[in-house]
Amino acid sequence: MRFEYLRQLAFAAALLSPALAQLDKCSSASETIAPQSINSSSIAKNYNSAIPITLPCDVSSHDFSVTLNIQSDGDFFVAFADSAGLYSSNGVVQVQVGLASTRNSVSRGRISPPQKRSHLGSPISSLVKRAVDASITYSYSNSVLTVFKNDVLIITYAIKNFDISQLFVSSSTGTASIISGGSTCIPTASASSVCPNIDDCTATSPVPCVFIESDIVGTVFDPTTYIQIPCSGSSFTFTASVTADSDLFISILGPDDFDGTFYQGSIGIVSALSQMGLGQFTVADPNAAYAFTAVSATISFEYDATTTAFKTYINSAQVSEILIPNWNFNNLAFSAYNGIATISGGSFSCVYSNGCPS
Ligand SMILES: *[C@@H]1O[C@H](CO)[C@@H](O)[C@H](O)[C@H]1NC(C)=O
Repeated sequence: MRFEYLRQLAFAAALLSPALAQLDKCSSASETIAPQSINSSSIAKNYNSAIPITLPCDVSSHDFSVTLNIQSDGDFFVAFADSAGLYSSNGVVQVQVGLASTRNSVSRGRISPPQKRSHLGSPISSLVKRAVDASITYSYSNSVLTVFKNDVLIITYAIKNFDISQLFVSSSTGTASIISGGSTCIPTASASSVCPNIDDCTATSPVPCVFIESDIVGTVFDPTTYIQIPCSGSSFTFTASVTADSDLFISILGPDDFDGTFYQGSIGIVSALSQMGLGQFTVADPNAAYAFTAVSATISFEYDATTTAFKTYINSAQVSEILIPNWNFNNLAFSAYNGIATISGGSFSCVYSNGCPS
């Protein structure tokens, strides 16, 4: 959901301000390309530096694909440029697609403004030929540019250290027109490897307030105050506010309660001693486990289904960690220790790696 939102946001930003849009490295974006015509009748490859086709990304973080449906009197040329534009000192990558001729080519180098090259020669032919329609796709992935003419692969070309962010079109002679077109940017493989999985889903569920009391020098786990874990074995976090006049004791219980395998431990909000272990837990220093005034803290638990690590936190500082393999637990049970505790504002966030269960 968040990803979808970011993507919409990036897309909207790209529409509002194409030249300034900085596409989030984990987002994709698509744009339509407006029709335009370039007249190369008197100057061959008469690119117009004033009308770039701006990609919604640059290739430092994204791969792109551009499809142009064109009509051209001569061979069709595209100059891929970085943010400095057509006359960038970094040069351009110029791709020729043979429509009037059969020549497909690609080259990298600087090009100079038309007034400097107009004397170099007139267009290849002043003969008016029948314009040719074509659909041309330029695809850039993993630093390789591939070009398809009417779905046939015609060019493969490696491009290193060049941050393409825009392109310019022209033809060898006559007029080249973009009838329609579109561009798409997707995160590069290396960028997306550090992006949140698009399928990750976090489901948050609140927990009713729990009041617990232990009137003995020890723990009392009252089944009516158990908190059900709603995450069915997936990774989760549980966070709650606690006000208590003793340490908080927890048990992680499966279907057989205290008759089955269980984990138990203490959250040392009073004693500052926190630990978790398998099975019944012995309090080392009972006198340190309770106080005469109430203390408040935010506690949280974090279970990672991949590493099987279960960690506990007091006010965001980790206080214990244990591995719990073969997770088969469905309840958290709490107890005070010769005292009372209120657990309020609790909530679980279950993290599902293959989308939320419907
Ligand atoms: C292209 O430019 C030439 C002169 O440079 C002009 O004669 C011709 O009409 C122009 N073509 C179009 C389609 O604008």
